[in-house]
Amino acid sequence: MSTKKDMDWGSLGFTFMQTDYSYVSNWKDGKWDSGVLTSDHTVTLSECAGILHYCQECFEGLKAYTTEEGKIVCFRPDLNAERMYDTAERLCMPPFPKDRFIEAVKQVVKANEAYVPPFGSGATLYIRPVMYATGEVIGVKPADEYQFRILVTPVGPYYKGGAVPIHICVSKYDRAAPRGTGNIKAGLNYAMSLQANVEAHANGFAENLYLDSESRTYVEEAGGANIIFVNKEGTLVVPQSHTDSILPSITRRSLVVVARDLLGMTVDERPVKFSEVENGDFVEAGLCGTAAVISPVGKISYNDEEIDISGMEAAGPVMTKLRNTLTDIQSGKIEGPEGWVVEIA
Ligand code: PLP
Ligand code: COI
Repeated sequence: MSTKKDMDWGSLGFTFMQTDYSYVSNWKDGKWDSGVLTSDHTVTLSECAGILHYCQECFEGLKAYTTEEGKIVCFRPDLNAERMYDTAERLCMPPFPKDRFIEAVKQVVKANEAYVPPFGSGATLYIRPVMYATGEVIGVKPADEYQFRILVTPVGPYYKGGAVPIHICVSKYDRAAPRGTGNIKAGLNYAMSLQANVEAHANGFAENLYLDSESRTYVEEAGGANIIFVNKEGTLVVPQSHTDSILPSITRRSLVVVARDLLGMTVDERPVKFSEVENGDFVEAGLCGTAAVISPVGKISYNDEEIDISGMEAAGPVMTKLRNTLTDIQSGKIEGPEGWVVEIA
C-alpha cells in the first residue's frame, strides 16, 4: 500500500488540487484509442475545436472512499458510465464504452491512491470524467474528433459546513427547457446557471432551487443537486418532472432504495408543486448528489417570502438517518444492495 500524501484532509474544501495522473483516451478515425494514464494535466486544442464554439462537452462526477479496513472503493460507477453514455448520445458525441469507463476509473484511482483520503477524515477522492470535441468545426455540426479524460482530486464538503442546514432561494432564472437538456450532464447546463449562482451567493444563499420552466409551478432541482422532501406523515417525497428536465441523480435514485428497502419508509415519487412547500407541507428537505451528499435545507426563500422547512439549527432526523445510512454504505461500514460498492484496491 502506498503512503498517503501529507495533508490536512479534514480541512479540504471542494476545490481542485492536481494529483499525479489523469486518464486520457482519444476518438479519431471513428474509434477510441486504447487510453493511457498521463501526468500531463494540460490540454492543447485547435482554436476551431468544437468544444470552443458549439459547446460539445459532457462530464460526470463520482467519488472514491477508503473503508475502515483500508480498502478503496467507489459507488455505483456503472450508473455514471450509463449516464455519460446517454449524455454523449444526446450531444452527438461518440459514447465511451461503459466497461472501459469503469476500468478507466479503477486505473486512475489506483494510480492516485496516495490522494484517496483516509477513512473517517470527512474527505473523499472526487473523480471527474469529462469528454469534449477536439475536432475542428466552423459550421454547426458534430465534430469528428473527441477526447475523454478522467481527473481526480481530493475534496471536502461542497456546501460549507457539510451536514449543517443551508438556506437556498428559488431562482428567477430557469435551468432547463422542457424536453431540452436538463436530464443530461452537460457543461452547457452549468454555464447558464453561473449568473444565477453568483447572484444567489451574493444574496447570502448557498444554492438555487429551480422551478419547471414551462409553468413555474413545480419544483425541479437545485443547481448542482436534486432535492428531496419529507412530509408530515414521514413520507419521502421525491420530485419528478413532467418535462423530463431533472438530472437523474444517482444519489437520489439510491436514496429511494435506501429509504424504501432498508429503512422501511414510504416513498412517493411524483411532481411536487412549489405551493406545497409554501403551504408548509414538508418538515424536512435535502439536496442530494455526489458532491452535496445530503445537505439539509433549513429554509427556502422565494422573492420576499422566507419559508421555514426544518430551521437552521440542525438537520432533521430523517435527513440525518438517510445521510448516515448512505455514507455508511459508501464507506463499507454497512452492506448495501449487491453491486453498489465496487472495490478498486
Ligand atoms: N443535479 C445536478 C444538476 C447535478 O449537477 C448533480 C451532480 O451530479 C446532481 C443532480 C446529482 O447527481 P448525482 O447524485 O448522480 O451526483
Ligand atoms: C457532482 O455532484 O458530482 C456534480 O457534478 C455537481 C457539481 C455541481 C459539482
